[in-house]
Amino acid sequence: MDELIDAAREIRANAHVPYSEYAVGAALETADGEVFVGCNLENANFSNSLHAEEVAIAEAVKAGHRDFSRLAVSSDRQDGVTPCGMCRQTLTEFCDDDLVVYCDLGDEDGAPSVREYALGELLPDTITQETLE
Ligand code: THU
Ligand code: ZN
Repeated sequence: MDELIDAAREIRANAHVPYSEYAVGAALETADGEVFVGCNLENANFSNSLHAEEVAIAEAVKAGHRDFSRLAVSSDRQDGVTPCGMCRQTLTEFCDDDLVVYCDLGDEDGAPSVREYALGELLPDTITQETLE
């Protein structure tokens, strides 16, 4: 868990957040242990902004990955931010309900402290590919 949180914390430095000044990093681990990272990229037309989780999953999917095990999310306030509703739905397209989601609460006794969720807990009973079959 510590390495995934560290990767999410590190990529926050590349966030482009002149409007919110709220930098977010995300690190998504594939089933075979590769890690893809993303940060939020804001835009003067606010609705064009990309969220950290969206960027991370896009990086992973474009590299050919479709199986994911864990996600770490970290804001520069280390306030336990969770993926927003839109990102939860985006994750659901490629990740199962049992995707583990770590939300960064900062360090405690020199090690990362997180709140842990399952994706299915963050977004239960939502629309998926199966719904459309
Ligand atoms: N943000 C993310 O990058 N991920 C989330 O799921 C929560 C929100 C970003 C969007 C915006 O740039 C900033 O955090 C404040 O909402
Ligand atoms: Zn989001």
